[in-house]
Amino acid sequence: MYDTNFMTSTTTKFDFQKYAATRRALVEQTLTNYLATPTNAFEPGILWDAMRYSVLSGGKRLRALLALAAFEAASGIEVDTCENANQLGIQSKSFQLDKQLEPTLPLACAIEFVHAMSLIHDDLPCMDNDDFRRGKPTNHKVYGEAIALLAGDALLMHAVQILIDEAGKSQTNDRLLKVVAELSRAAGAPGMVGGQVIDISLTGNASTKDKQTAKAHLEAMHSRKTGALISFCSWAGAALAGADEKQLAAFRRFGEILGLAFQITDDLLDVTGDITTLGKTPGKDAKSNKLTFIGLIGIDESKQELARLEKAALDELQLTGISDHRLAALQAILQYSINRIS
Ligand code: IPE
Ligand code: IPE
Ligand code: MG
Ligand code: MG
Ligand code: MG
Repeated sequence: MYDTNFMTSTTTKFDFQKYAATRRALVEQTLTNYLATPTNAFEPGILWDAMRYSVLSGGKRLRALLALAAFEAASGIEVDTCENANQLGIQSKSFQLDKQLEPTLPLACAIEFVHAMSLIHDDLPCMDNDDFRRGKPTNHKVYGEAIALLAGDALLMHAVQILIDEAGKSQTNDRLLKVVAELSRAAGAPGMVGGQVIDISLTGNASTKDKQTAKAHLEAMHSRKTGALISFCSWAGAALAGADEKQLAAFRRFGEILGLAFQITDDLLDVTGDITTLGKTPGKDAKSNKLTFIGLIGIDESKQELARLEKAALDELQLTGISDHRLAALQAILQYSINRIS
């Protein structure tokens, strides 16, 4: 569910629904283009079917939106002007949203590929053993474990290939190469993969630690398994736009806080959500004896933690020095991440 408009810290009402819809449409089209089955003889079509099955199956596209919004904020694209121009049907090149976002659409899609890989692998019987994802049977339920594993591998490398290919074509190839290096860190052992290993090693062992130690472990786990990629999105969008070092540090930190808040909300929804809205089976965390914020400090304290994180993230955005009206989309994404119901 993403049909909520938020009052941002600017006094004007930002139309997040409209903002997200226009950008999601561009992302979906670009993802579809990237996932066409190659026409080589003997190409294993089932692999591409499995890749498309998981990527083109909905999903909030939060990470793609975040990368686009960071790019727009840091490059000075005037959201209102773009939207108004599109609404009025102005065809001037400078007001075409797809042209404005062209430099960052490959990044947005690469991120969604890495994210889809993480979901396919996370759902495998050797990990969380889940049957439903995005309202459909999980990838391995449809294609079997071997193809699911390989589809995830292929998506990961597809993401890297897309960005390296872009770097080869682009005038800002130094920025793109930095982005690829950073993506490898965010998705790999220092980031998501390491976080998933912490998740596995803590599963079933949470009660052996005192509350303070458990909370520190939990934050480290969430920051890596989910926060690293989300923080990368925020940083990378701004990096492609040419933001300076001080701004980049603030964008990264904003993403780190948002990522932690996003995973706490995911833990919360596992307790309060229903399968139809979530598109995945709720109640799995408690059943699997996972260490979560809700299990450790309860619903009310988790919500207080979210409120604290929201404020801290908004403060980081201010440190970018970017004017408030250009930060409206990022503020809305933060609030959506915390208030979502799916
Ligand atoms: C689910 O991510 C996995 C987590 C890191 C919590 P999302 O909630 O963003 O999943 P989709 O992309 O919308 O399906
Ligand atoms: C998933 O966390 C994190 C990654 C996929 C890296 P969860 O295991 O909580 O995500 P869901 O609840 O299955 O979406
Ligand atoms: Mg998991
Ligand atoms: Mg899971
Ligand atoms: Mg979860």
